[in-house]
Amino acid sequence: MPGNQKSNLIAIIDDDESMQDSLRDLMEAAGLVARCFGSAEEFLESDLHRKAACLIVDVRMPKMSGLQLQAKLKEEECNVPIIFITAHGDAFERIIGSSAALESVLDQVEQVAPTDSTVLIEGETGTGKELIAHAIHNASQRFGRAFIKLNCAAIPLDLLESELFGHEKGAFTGAIAQKIGRFEMADKGTLFLDEVGDIPPALQPKLLRVLQEQEFERLGSGRTHKVDVRLVAATNRDLAKMLARGQFRSDLYYRLNVFPILLPALRERREDIPALVTHFVKMFSRRMGKQVDGIPPETMAAFQWYSWPGNIRELQNLVERAVILSRDGVLPNPLHKGQTGLMIAISDHARAFPSSMTLEDSGRALIVETLEQAGWIVGGPRGAAAKLGLKRTTLLAKMRRLGISRPTSQEGNSVPGVA
Ligand SMILES: Nc1ncnc2c1ncn2[C@@H]1O[C@H](COP(=O)(O)OP(=O)(O)OP(=O)(O)O)[C@@H](O)[C@H]1O
Ligand SMILES: [Mg+2]
Repeated sequence: MPGNQKSNLIAIIDDDESMQDSLRDLMEAAGLVARCFGSAEEFLESDLHRKAACLIVDVRMPKMSGLQLQAKLKEEECNVPIIFITAHGDAFERIIGSSAALESVLDQVEQVAPTDSTVLIEGETGTGKELIAHAIHNASQRFGRAFIKLNCAAIPLDLLESELFGHEKGAFTGAIAQKIGRFEMADKGTLFLDEVGDIPPALQPKLLRVLQEQEFERLGSGRTHKVDVRLVAATNRDLAKMLARGQFRSDLYYRLNVFPILLPALRERREDIPALVTHFVKMFSRRMGKQVDGIPPETMAAFQWYSWPGNIRELQNLVERAVILSRDGVLPNPLHKGQTGLMIAISDHARAFPSSMTLEDSGRALIVETLEQAGWIVGGPRGAAAKLGLKRTTLLAKMRRLGISRPTSQEGNSVPGVA
């Protein structure tokens, strides 16, 4: 390849940050230098793109895929070796937390994923319903096929039917061309219907029919289409209550409610807060190119006691704000005094918290100590995983969940887990 100097630089190109992190750790443990890129475009724009000795490339990325990147490099006569990966082997890799409440959700996901049954995910806003819907798809046999999403609340009512089932040209005023609906797009894959409680009563019988018969017609056409779609639905409304009020059809409700999964609110699993905070601090500080050395105990305590009405999304946004506001590597407390006062008053799990905190801390300390002894090598006969009696992938998943990664030289005095 023209202009290529022999180097030990490995370029990791993957849209999934947690995958980037674990690949980088593996490369660095092997004494190589790794640089991560979130997209093929970002990599192509970088001046490093002709200098890498080898690329590790995710096959599936939102804009330019791994294979398209390969073709582009070939066009440029850049013959760098490429290792392709599909980053979706572990469906739970992005799900942080180890509380009993979350583990129970993940157990249910594992049980239902391989079946074709409809799943109804319920939970307050920001509890991770969409994340769990993805995990169900990724852990199912439909992984690798389409995962199609439709937010029923975001589409004007009169357009929802054609979004779901498609239409023929001229089916209604404004239907200037034929359109494929989401059920057809999701054929052989998974359809995620978000905010399913917002499906208007007039459309509910049509949805029921396609769920029962796996067949439907496009608007403006008499031709019946057969599909093979697995439905995952989510709602933060109380469907049972809507049923009682006559706002939701009972037959559709029972059809959707085959396998309900209720996501716990964050205040019901406070023991996950430290790992989530650490995970998001790491994510945002890396994204913003800011170094955050530690989370002061006051900040962590404030996070632990707050009631989190917006759940994990709110936590993620507050950590983002705190990272923006951080100075000299210290993460400030982004919560107002009023919020902190309120949260102590309404916290009903306050006393349960310290003991679970201690458990997690000791688990983390053991992992960090073992990694240090093993020179931060995870796999292999002398790696930390073997010493801990864990599979390499299990330890990597635990490290990700607990937010543990190898400290870099500038971050030598950081709090464990925030490096
Ligand atoms: N256990 C978790 N670990 C890491 N990130 C999480 C976890 N749960 C949720 N998140 C993140 O929190 C954000 C909100 O999650 P998600 O969009 O899945 O919530 P939701 O329940 O669909 O919310 P809404 O009802 O408002 O649509 C996302 O950025 C998601 O990646
Ligand atoms: Mg959602």
